[in-house]
Amino acid sequence: MIEARDLVKEYRTTERREGLRGAVVDLVAPRRRVRRAIDGIDFAIAAGETVGYIGANGAGKSTTIKILTGILRATSGTVRVDGLDPLRDRSRYVYRIGVVFGQRTQLWWDIAVIEAFRLLARMYGVPDPELRRRIEEFDEVLDLAPLLHTPVRKLSLGQRMRCDLAASLLHRPRIVFLDEPTIGLDVDVKERVRQFVRRVNREHGTTVMLTTHDLRDVEELCDRVLLIDRGKVLFDGPLRDFRRRYARERRVVLDLARAEDQAAAVAGLEGLPVSVECPSAGRLVLRFDPEAVRPADVVARALQGPPLQDLAVQEADLSDVVRDVYRAQGRA
Ligand SMILES: Nc1ncnc2c1ncn2[C@@H]1O[C@H](COP(=O)(O)OP(=O)(O)O)[C@@H](O)[C@H]1O
Ligand SMILES: [Mg+2]
Repeated sequence: MIEARDLVKEYRTTERREGLRGAVVDLVAPRRRVRRAIDGIDFAIAAGETVGYIGANGAGKSTTIKILTGILRATSGTVRVDGLDPLRDRSRYVYRIGVVFGQRTQLWWDIAVIEAFRLLARMYGVPDPELRRRIEEFDEVLDLAPLLHTPVRKLSLGQRMRCDLAASLLHRPRIVFLDEPTIGLDVDVKERVRQFVRRVNREHGTTVMLTTHDLRDVEELCDRVLLIDRGKVLFDGPLRDFRRRYARERRVVLDLARAEDQAAAVAGLEGLPVSVECPSAGRLVLRFDPEAVRPADVVARALQGPPLQDLAVQEADLSDVVRDVYRAQGRA
């Protein structure tokens, strides 16, 4: 359904020199730089899959989505989505896909949400009764009814995202690209967004490619993970393999009541299969595999030591995972 072959994208930028003199030199001899944002990416996604396209900031996720949606031209390589070339077959292509960019809205700023939906429906040739039916269906999860008569510019980020998601799926595209759809959202809106995406995938077989740097999105939505870093694919496989290999780390952060207890606290943890780091005075970060030692045992042991001010159990985040992958590949 989605196929990328040896995809490369280079951005050409001009670096500015400082000061007036620099500005003059810039005019005469501009200093150009080439940045390779996508560095030879290959993948194929089948119809009906939900794929998490994940990676740290700057990894190249949005660039890939822009190429796949026909917003940007790749420097080299090929892309086919649903049998079409996103750039060459543009007019047919837009009917097949839906797109949401978490960072900005696709809707018109000054008109009410329902008017935007009506305009989109007309553009895509969705008849009125069908439009009503679809809005009702989306409303069940996204709770759109209270928002329909509000101008887009008056919506909060979470409200806007709910409307943007609905808008991107009004024409029932076969594929939807979601670029950071949960960024900046409250936990309950995130949950609603996830529920909605899951439902669209299950009920209509819509293929979903979603970028995020929130591992929870991936855990809750995706069958498959494509992890990218610095424009290259680091991991491509089922979610369970990804979890087994990389996201197994758990972390307990201890803040001691007295910084001078640090050595005693470290000594108290000896014998557990736990790595201990002291990033700052009075703080201990314990890392371990929750399948090798129970988090409850680690916490119990920590509580037997010197008095604590605070204790937190954390799951690995994406930067930990990326570090682990490099380490496993001997490229750290
Ligand atoms: N329009 C642009 N011009 C120059 N460099 C860009 C542009 N857009 C993105 N980049 C650079 O390309 C790299 C990948 O960016 P992006 O695809 O936005 O990453 P992500 O979405 O994973 O955060 C980054 O280093 C970014 O600074
Ligand atoms: Mg991005």
